[in-house]
Amino acid sequence: MSDHRQRLEEMNRAAELGGGADRIEKQHKAGKYTARERLDMLLDEGSFVELDKFVTHQCADFGMEKRKPLGDGVVTGYGRIDGRLVYVFAQDFTVFGGSLSGAYASKICKIMDMAMKVGAPVIGLNDSGGARIQEGVRSLGGYADIFLRNTMASGVIPQISAILGPCAGGAVYSPSITDFIFMVENTSYMFITGPEVVKTVTSEEVTKQDLGGAAMHSTRSGVAHFATPDEETCFARIRALLGFLPSNNTADPPITPTDDPHDRMDDALTSLVPAEPSRPYDITELIGHVVDDGHFFQVHEAYARNIVVGFARLAGRPVGIVANQPSFLAGCLDINASLKAARFVRFCDAFNIPLVTLVDVPGFLPGTDQEYGGIITHGAKLLYAYAEATVPKITLITRKAYGGAYDVMASKHIRADINLAYPTAEIAVMGPDGAVNIVYRKELAGAENPDQARAEYVQHYRDTFANPFKAAELGYIDAVIEPEHTRPRLIDALLMLENKRDSNPPKKHGNIPL
Ligand code: HXC
Repeated sequence: MSDHRQRLEEMNRAAELGGGADRIEKQHKAGKYTARERLDMLLDEGSFVELDKFVTHQCADFGMEKRKPLGDGVVTGYGRIDGRLVYVFAQDFTVFGGSLSGAYASKICKIMDMAMKVGAPVIGLNDSGGARIQEGVRSLGGYADIFLRNTMASGVIPQISAILGPCAGGAVYSPSITDFIFMVENTSYMFITGPEVVKTVTSEEVTKQDLGGAAMHSTRSGVAHFATPDEETCFARIRALLGFLPSNNTADPPITPTDDPHDRMDDALTSLVPAEPSRPYDITELIGHVVDDGHFFQVHEAYARNIVVGFARLAGRPVGIVANQPSFLAGCLDINASLKAARFVRFCDAFNIPLVTLVDVPGFLPGTDQEYGGIITHGAKLLYAYAEATVPKITLITRKAYGGAYDVMASKHIRADINLAYPTAEIAVMGPDGAVNIVYRKELAGAENPDQARAEYVQHYRDTFANPFKAAELGYIDAVIEPEHTRPRLIDALLMLENKRDSNPPKKHGNIPL
């Protein structure tokens, strides 16, 4: 073998060993895979092509000139998922704790720049002690170089982050600008300041997991969109998610052929929505009966459960579904539900994914918590997101659509294309009891038999407003449909809108109420 070949082989072996066998063993003992093992699991077999394998850092302080591992703690390149091109980086915790140097940041920036030119998603696998302390400001600059690219790429190419170990300090901001964050339970955490700083500053005692683990972020803060029990599941879910997404904002989402007939009627739907306005039911059950093969990929499943968002397919075409969930908080809109849905709507709009909105909403959640927390501003985000969205928008009111929430939930007035309602839909300023209390206050106070009078007023209100026919009369509802016809009607509307073109007035950017 020639010297050159031998040298190349040795260098490849050294680079592939990362921080060495001991640290790899430590990584495995911690229940984590190495960067290379992760890429093998994530990508189609044998598809990974590595770049910058021999890059080293340029730091000469703190004895670093004697420690120059090849690749410098991050594995970068490109590969395929279901045959489609993706760019990837995987932080290697076995090399300086996966900490980020200037050279390491440049490697990530290189593949992000390529992804932008080519128009393909970037998937980042995060497992890092943050800024490499020995590099000082070079590392901070490297982070900012990545943040800038995350921001420029937002809405142009899908960006997905998996948190598979530590992610702390300013390092959290790259994943948080990306479109979706996956976290693995028990082995990953994200926080701005760790438990020790928290204790010093606020005297609170908290574990890493309670402060920033997958369970917390997927249920309370909403920072994580997905929590998975292990890394294998995490990679399988990322692959499934990509199946719904286009490669970039100028492409259409991929069509997946299905044997599920377009005109399939479903009698189970006739009784799924209870006639009683306040009886709960599970909207995901309804979604399951309607979409292709019953397959619904929920996003943010454990966060703000009063609204459900996620991807499904109708006639093979990906759609984003937003649905009030009557079985949790009666499906009302609150701050977290508004944020969750607004972000999802904007993602779908950016990436040409039509929106299907299922409405059963009693209104916005009342209370000091909500008002003090700024429900006015946050609720407006959802309204704004729907109003500015130009993708096909199809809305179905299954039961209640009361008050401002009627307007917000993709009503005709904010440019929904097709608005449907079940015959049981109730579209009104508020529910009958509240309305009667206000409109007939004097009459009720003076009535001989207030209960009977109230019942009569409620019935009258119901007959007048608590149905979809007034809205249909005004053209705010395009058609009142039988529940068993839901799938064919939604598919018909989706195919009719396939070539929809709409735009917003030219502007630098809007001022969404942040
Ligand atoms: C350089 C680091 C490092 C870092 C870890 N290492 N973090 N080297 N810079 N930031 C090295 C360790 O020296 C060690 O080297 C190896 O990585 C593994 O670390 P351990 O501590 O042995 O591992 P573990 O016990 O699992 O603890 C992991 C950890 C801890 C919790 C991440 O290492 C840690 O607290 N690191 C510092 C985290 C931090 O404060 N980072 C700065 C955050 S601020 P050897 O050679 O012994 O294997 C920040 C700002 C970003 O990131 C700003 C962007 C705007």
